[in-house]
Amino acid sequence: MKKMIALMLVAMLVGIFGCTKEPQQPAGTETKPTGTEPAAKTSWMIGMSQCNLGEPWRVQMNADVKAAAEKQPELTVLFKDAQNDSLKQVSQMEEYITQGVDLIIISPKEAAPLTTVVAQAVEKGIPVIVLDRRVVGDEYTCFIGADNKKIGKAAGEWIVKKLGGKGNVVELKGLMTSTPGQDRHTGFREGIKGSDIKIIFEADMKWLEPEARKEMESALARYDNIDLVYAHNDPGAHGAYLAAQAAGREKDILFVGIDGLAHEGQMYVKEGILAASFEYPTGGKEAVETALKILHGEDVPKEITLDSTVYTADSFK
Ligand code: FRU
Repeated sequence: MKKMIALMLVAMLVGIFGCTKEPQQPAGTETKPTGTEPAAKTSWMIGMSQCNLGEPWRVQMNADVKAAAEKQPELTVLFKDAQNDSLKQVSQMEEYITQGVDLIIISPKEAAPLTTVVAQAVEKGIPVIVLDRRVVGDEYTCFIGADNKKIGKAAGEWIVKKLGGKGNVVELKGLMTSTPGQDRHTGFREGIKGSDIKIIFEADMKWLEPEARKEMESALARYDNIDLVYAHNDPGAHGAYLAAQAAGREKDILFVGIDGLAHEGQMYVKEGILAASFEYPTGGKEAVETALKILHGEDVPKEITLDSTVYTADSFK
């Protein structure tokens, strides 16, 4: 009985005075407790700067970025298309910086013109992932892409073997102010070194099928004996094929390209239009995965090199 009375007394006292030792404050005057961390960020805005959407490969890259980002509910990706104009791409990058996005993924049209704005973003604290084509120097957070020199060299070696060590070759180059064009050229020349392959005609087709077709028309007009066309991308190889077909010479010439998209290069190989297409992965998925790590404060490598494979008729047997 005594115990029960004691317990009731305690309960009454707690009811009257409450448990808290903190002094009560009038509503609305609470001050933030000091020394507490701000709430950790749980959602982020990424700006994707695409140099153009004129080629299937770039459409695929954006689709890969979108698909990977959709699996991460904390990410929102904004897309801008520079329509193959470096100045436009610079101003679109500036818009992302002003807007204060949390991270930028850029696939730059050309190296030099996009270098400063990428560095500016990094200096302002916005991490930048450079995808596929490089900028000059190393003022970016991470570069992701396949090794274009290695691909060019592999293409050169494959061609030497295919032509039995000699032949007349046309090289249709990608935009030579972009790093994949430079590297696919240098690598290729290394790959054919020591062979009797002669480059009888070379031109910059700027990655564009119509340009490649036009250049190939000139090559066909000048040379009766062309064994093979090495184009730095599949649209270029296809443009060259169309020019040869119009001249009735497509059966005398082999065509080799780079990109190897399922619905482009691989399809051309299956149809017998291209003798080979070297895969060039878009890196879209890897870019989103890397972005997530950066945004969560994890360390990422400065360079992420993607693998490439070659598609020939044998790949589809
Ligand atoms: C598309 C494209 C691809 C090529 C890549 C190189 O714009 O030309 O065909 O592999 O860019 O950056």
